[in-house]
Amino acid sequence: MSSPSSTQGAPLASDKRETFSSRKLFILSAIGSAVGLGNIWRFPYVAYENGGGAFLIPYLVAILCAGIPLLFLDYAVGHRYRGSAPLSYRRANRKAEVLGWWQVLICFIIAIYYAAIIAWAAMYCWFSITKAWDKNPDGAGGFFMNDFLKVQDEVTVGFDFVGPVLIPMFAVWLIAIVIMVAGVNKGISRANAIFMPLLIVMFLILVVQSVFLPGAIDGLNTFFTPNFEALKDPSVWAAAFGHIFFSLSVAFGIMVTYSSYMKRKSDLTGSGYVVAFANSSFELLAGIGVFAALGFMAYNANSSVDEVAVSGIGLAFIAFPTIVSQAPLGSVIGVLFFGSLVFAGLTSLISILEVIVAAFQDKLGWRRAPATLSVTIPVALISLALFPTTTGLFLLDTMDAFVNQFGILACALVIVIVLGAGLGMLPKLAKHLNRHSSIKVGTGWKVLVGGVGPAALGYMLINEIQTKMAEQYSGYPAWFNGVFGWGMAGALIVGAVILSLIPWSKKSKLNDPEFHQHKKNVEAEEIPEPAGKEY
Ligand code: ALA
Repeated sequence: MSSPSSTQGAPLASDKRETFSSRKLFILSAIGSAVGLGNIWRFPYVAYENGGGAFLIPYLVAILCAGIPLLFLDYAVGHRYRGSAPLSYRRANRKAEVLGWWQVLICFIIAIYYAAIIAWAAMYCWFSITKAWDKNPDGAGGFFMNDFLKVQDEVTVGFDFVGPVLIPMFAVWLIAIVIMVAGVNKGISRANAIFMPLLIVMFLILVVQSVFLPGAIDGLNTFFTPNFEALKDPSVWAAAFGHIFFSLSVAFGIMVTYSSYMKRKSDLTGSGYVVAFANSSFELLAGIGVFAALGFMAYNANSSVDEVAVSGIGLAFIAFPTIVSQAPLGSVIGVLFFGSLVFAGLTSLISILEVIVAAFQDKLGWRRAPATLSVTIPVALISLALFPTTTGLFLLDTMDAFVNQFGILACALVIVIVLGAGLGMLPKLAKHLNRHSSIKVGTGWKVLVGGVGPAALGYMLINEIQTKMAEQYSGYPAWFNGVFGWGMAGALIVGAVILSLIPWSKKSKLNDPEFHQHKKNVEAEEIPEPAGKEY
């Protein structure tokens, strides 16, 4: 607990808000957050299901028109208001606190299933050495569904635990909690400084190895050959926008939280471009690696890539093991691929958890260790109760789909409307960005965030609601999607309203003297928007 002196006078050294010790560490941690399961596990199958090469068009449009502009918006809010998502929005406007809590709850849902996928990947590192799936008569698909996850034939809520998922999940949570307790510099920065270089080296070796496999070129052709018909489908555009937010860690609190730990003198937009470029490069590299490997699989099976590619969340866990069994040095490919998933996943999981920890730390005024333990242990227990079970896969699939479309996408829409048209804050935030950036933003940015953003996101969201209402997601029973899809998405909003109505503790960071000093400094620095190059 913090000492009362922190609210009455100057904050104690231990109460001071941490900052990343250098810009390099901020960028590394932001890239660590962005590059995650979304890039390696999600992007290849989302791109494949949504028009292959043609998906790259909505993807690029989504990055330029929404991903990067909203990344800058997150940076501006976090850096200017210097708090967790609820505190930053609250400081921006009293009524906006609820937006921050919505983001915290989105992170809660993502965290509880995200840890499960990291655990699967950790087990698959080991299975790549033993080639455990070779013994299953139905191959890697049968192994994944029946032997490993023990998925039931019918979608019911049967919480029978699956030991081989429970144990690595427990380990994932333990590692994540230890990193989180250590704080921003000793925990998050250090973890990123270790895991990210490892990830980059492992992944580059993997991609080079994959593109030299026989048949790789056919896989790449499948990935890059566009199905332009897909561009007429609004769902494809919604998938691109939803994916880019997930992938860039934008609009669900992560970048607001991380940028609140940046030093006052920083380069916001310059850092943002580096992060966005690194994230997309990694994502495209993942697509190339995965599809080159699928090309090899098709070559071996003497069939087409379309026939061997498994759509959906099984792509990584069903297709890759087959490649591991067939390719020269297959075990090495497997360990590199699933090991990359583990490292990429861990650095993102800690950023997702940071949103939740920082929010409660700010609201309750607790110190790092008690706040972290009080938040992460219950989150871990819920995750461990739901996902290492025979229902885990269905839950994960539904929650991932709904939290992206009706969580992140919807939250992004509300934020751009509230900050733009509602509170008219974009000029102020643009000024803040320009004061703290090497590359200036101007009218273009304001139009994208305040005009194009709401229009595009609104259109896609309405379309998604219609599509998801017209057909049952993944063919799951209506009650299942109702509870864990629609119900969960609705509960996030109700929960956010409730959390925002809870009064701030006396020890909270709301009236932190350190922030008032920061605000004074920031306002004193404010200068008219410089002319010149603008976004
Ligand atoms: N940005 C993280 C990912 O792509 C959440 O997985």
